[in-house]
Amino acid sequence: MPDHYPPINPKFPHFLHGGDYNPDQWSATPEVWDEDMRLMKLAHCNAMSVAIFSWTSLEPEEGRFEFGWLDAIMDKLAEHGGFAVLATPSGARPAWMSRKYPEVLRVNRDGRREFHHTRHNHCRTSPVYREKCRIINARLAERYKDHPALLVWHISNEYNGGDCHCDLCLNAFRNWLRIRYHDDLDELNQKWWAGFWSHTITDWEDIRPIDYSVHGMTLDWKRFLTEQTIDFYKAEIAPLGEFTPQVPITTNFMGLSTTLDYWKFAREVDVVSWDSYPWWHKPGNELQTACATAFTHDINRCLKGGKPFMLMESVPSVTNWAPVCKLKRPGMHLLSSLHAVAHGSDTVQYFQWRKGRGGSEKFHGAVVDHVGHENTRVFRDVAGVGMALEKMDGVIGTTVRPQVAIVYDWETRWAMDEIQGLGRDYRGTYAETCIAHYSPFWKAGIPVDVIDQTCDISRYKLFITPMLYMLRPGMAEKLEKFVREGGTWVATYWTGIVDESDLCYLGGWPGGGLRKVLGIWDEETDATHPEERNCVRFGKGPADGMKEEYEARELFALIHAEGAKVLATYGRDFYAGRPAVTVNKYGKGRAYYVASRNSNDFLCDFLGAVSREIGIRPILDGGLPDGVSVQKRGDGEREFVFVMNFNAEQVKVALGDGEYHDVLAGGRAGECVELGGYGVGVYRRMAKR
Ligand code: GLA
Ligand code: ZN
Repeated sequence: MPDHYPPINPKFPHFLHGGDYNPDQWSATPEVWDEDMRLMKLAHCNAMSVAIFSWTSLEPEEGRFEFGWLDAIMDKLAEHGGFAVLATPSGARPAWMSRKYPEVLRVNRDGRREFHHTRHNHCRTSPVYREKCRIINARLAERYKDHPALLVWHISNEYNGGDCHCDLCLNAFRNWLRIRYHDDLDELNQKWWAGFWSHTITDWEDIRPIDYSVHGMTLDWKRFLTEQTIDFYKAEIAPLGEFTPQVPITTNFMGLSTTLDYWKFAREVDVVSWDSYPWWHKPGNELQTACATAFTHDINRCLKGGKPFMLMESVPSVTNWAPVCKLKRPGMHLLSSLHAVAHGSDTVQYFQWRKGRGGSEKFHGAVVDHVGHENTRVFRDVAGVGMALEKMDGVIGTTVRPQVAIVYDWETRWAMDEIQGLGRDYRGTYAETCIAHYSPFWKAGIPVDVIDQTCDISRYKLFITPMLYMLRPGMAEKLEKFVREGGTWVATYWTGIVDESDLCYLGGWPGGGLRKVLGIWDEETDATHPEERNCVRFGKGPADGMKEEYEARELFALIHAEGAKVLATYGRDFYAGRPAVTVNKYGKGRAYYVASRNSNDFLCDFLGAVSREIGIRPILDGGLPDGVSVQKRGDGEREFVFVMNFNAEQVKVALGDGEYHDVLAGGRAGECVELGGYGVGVYRRMAKR
C-alpha cells in the first residue's frame, strides 16, 4: 500500500480547479468564450469539464459531425494554460436517435416505452445505443488524443442503475441468472425461496424483476444493473483505451446513491470521482451534514484503497434543487471545498462554470452569474479557493492510513431497504446508523476508513459493523480471523441475520458461525415506538470515561450471553436486567455486541473508551471544540493537518506542541490557532511530537 500516489495525470501535478462548462450553449455569442477564458484565469481555475451534454452539438444529424466549436474551446483552454476534463456525451442523446431507433429509449416497469425527454434515460443493453456511443467516443478520442488540453476522460455523467425493462434488458438479466445459477432453475428457486406465494419459476422466460415479494430476485436485479452498467461503461471506454491509453478515466459517482454498487464500479475506473451537494446551513443540522459528507468523502477515498479522488462536482453557492436554496454563508465555500481535500480529494470542481440563460438549471449556482462579470461574492469565493489550492501542491497524492474502519455495504443496504420486519419506520435506517457510528470518530479527530464487506480488514485495529444484517460470502470467516488474530470488533443489534441471497440463517443469530466469536445468542428483537425510551445500565465502575446509564430507543435485541461478559443491562420493560452490551474474548482479540440503538453520547463514550483501550489516538491530543473536525493527509515529510470549523462562531484549537507551518496564511502556526466561523486551516507538521 503506497504512502502517496502520483498525481491524477502526471502532466499536471497540481490541484484541478474548475467546473462543468457548456460553451456550445453559447455558440451564438462566441465572444463569451473569450470572456470565459479571461474569467477562468481570474478565478484561478485550470480545468473545465467539457461536452458532457453536447451530443447534438457534436452530431446534429446521424453521421454528420461538427467538432469546430470543440476544437476552438480545446485550443483556447490550452492557450490559456487550462485543461479539459473531456466528457463522452452518452448522458443525453439527440432526438434523431430516439426517433430512428426507439430501442435506445428505456422501458419502464409497467412495460411502457418512454418518450424522448430529459436525460440519463437510455437503455444500456441496446446494441444500437452502444454502437452510437462507440462511434462518437472513438471520434472524440481520435481527434483529441494529442491535444495538450486533454487531461482526464469524464465518462458519461452520473450513471444510475438504468432500470430498463425492455426485452433486451430482461433477456440479458435472464442470461445473467442462468450463469449465476448454473442453468438450474431448482437452484434459483431455492435461493429466491420462490415457493413463497407460489412464485416458483418454471420457465426462465417468466422472470420479470418487478415483484418485490421475492427479495432474492430484487437483490439479483440490483446486482445485475450494476454489472450491466459496468458492461456498458466498458463498451464506452474501449475506443478511448485504443487512442489515449495514457489519459486517466473516471465517471462521476453520486455519494450514497443506492442505484449502483460503487465498490464494484470503482475497480473499473482509473480514478474515483464524485458529486457532492450537502445542504448546508439547515438550522440545528450543520454538524450532521458535515459528518455525513465526511463519511461519503471517506468512502470515495477508500473505493480505490486510499487513492485520492476527484470532487467532480460541488456548487459554488447553492443548487437549484435543494428543499430550500440557502446561500453558502461567508467562509463555507472554502471550508466545504477543503473539506473534500482533507478527506482525500485532489480536485475541487463545480457544477457549473457559467449559468445558462434558460433551461431547468438556469438558477443553479455557478462561478459566473448572469451578470457576467467577476465582481460577485461567489466569484471571489471561488477565486479564494483557487488561490488556497495553489499553495497546497504538497498535498497532492497524499493519503491517510486509519486504524479504524467502519462498514457501509451497498448490498447490505439494498437488503435493508427492502426488509419487512422491525417496522416500516426503521426500514431504510441503515445509512444513518452507519453514520451515527462514524460520528464519534469524526468528532474526536480520529481518521476512519469506510469500506464494504469485500475489503481486506487485516490491517485495522478496530472494526465496526453497524447493523451487519447480511453476511456476504467470506465475511464471517474474515471477522473470525480478524478477532482471533487480535483485532477488536464492535457489532450491533441486527447482525448476521441473512446470507447474500437474503435467506435467514437457521440455528440462532448471529449466523455464519459468528455466535461463537461474539459469545452471544440473539433470540428476538423488540422495536419500540420512536417516542418510547429505555436505558442501558453499566452500574458501578463502568469503563474509563463512561457514565453509569445511557438512553436507549427503537431497537432492542434480547440476547443471551454464551461466554461473553455482560458489561451493561437493560433498565426497563420486561427485559430489564438482560444483557445490553457484551464483550467476548476470542483468540487474541475481543468482540463487542451492542444490543440496542443507544443515544449518541453512548456511542461517543463507548467507542471512545474502546479506542483508548487499544491505543488509538486522535490526530491532535488536546481535545476539540464541538463542531470542529480534524483530518490529516500524508505522513513524515509531508504531513498535513486540516482543522475545520463548522460552527458559525469563532473557535480556538490547540495544535499541541508540534511545530507547524500555516499553509494558507504562511509562517509558523502557534500552539493554539483561532478559526473564525466556518474557518479552515491547513497546517504542515514540521517536527514530530
Ligand atoms: C448533477 C449533474 C449535473 C447537474 C447537477 C446539479 O450532479 O451531474 O449535470 O445537473 O447535478 O446539481
Ligand atoms: Zn433496455
